[in-house]
Amino acid sequence: MAASALAAGYVLVQGYPSVEDYLYMRATCNLSLRNAEQAAAALQGSWYGVYVAEEATPTEPIAMGRIIGDGGWYFLIADMMTLPEHQRKGLADVVLKNLLATIKSRAAKGQAYVTLGADPPGRRLYQKNGFKDTMPQQMGMSLLIDAGGEQ
Ligand SMILES: CC(C)(COP(=O)(O)OP(=O)(O)OC[C@H]1O[C@@H](n2cnc3c(N)ncnc32)[C@H](O)[C@@H]1OP(=O)(O)O)[C@@H](O)C(=O)NCCC(=O)NCCS
Repeated sequence: MAASALAAGYVLVQGYPSVEDYLYMRATCNLSLRNAEQAAAALQGSWYGVYVAEEATPTEPIAMGRIIGDGGWYFLIADMMTLPEHQRKGLADVVLKNLLATIKSRAAKGQAYVTLGADPPGRRLYQKNGFKDTMPQQMGMSLLIDAGGEQ
């Protein structure tokens, strides 16, 4: 997959938004609300992440994506989001291509399995970048656990 160029005026930065910016982005992009403890652990526990900012304000993320992974063969793409006023400029496509290229170059030699949960706004983006529906061979399943309490 060829790297696509970032639109003029934007920069791609390796790393993660601050906890505050991450929570703001999730809320603004209509993703489920998380708390600061969850956000801090999520960002620290990621394998790799990248964000896009405007050139003039390189520490203010406006699009991002991250990878949760074992570095060996199993990788989950998470938090693909672009603030609404910056959408449809190809930013998420650049982010996703960078994430995938990083797996290709840094993961252990062999075939890596890359997975994600595709909400409707991201489906075409993922399909364009080679992702396939796993059904009917395999069905994605999920479970919500109220964590942080006693066992
Ligand atoms: C999904 C999401 C991350 C896509 O972000 P984005 O930066 O707008 O994505 P892109 O610009 O790379 O691509 C989106 C569309 O814009 C189009 N596009 C790209 N550059 C463009 C340009 N210069 N002018 C007009 N359209 C353009 C793309 O072709 C694509 O269209 P398509 O879906 O019809 O193929 C964004 O919509 C979002 O944050 N949604 C809310 C959060 C969410 O649901 N995230 C997904 C979780 S799975």
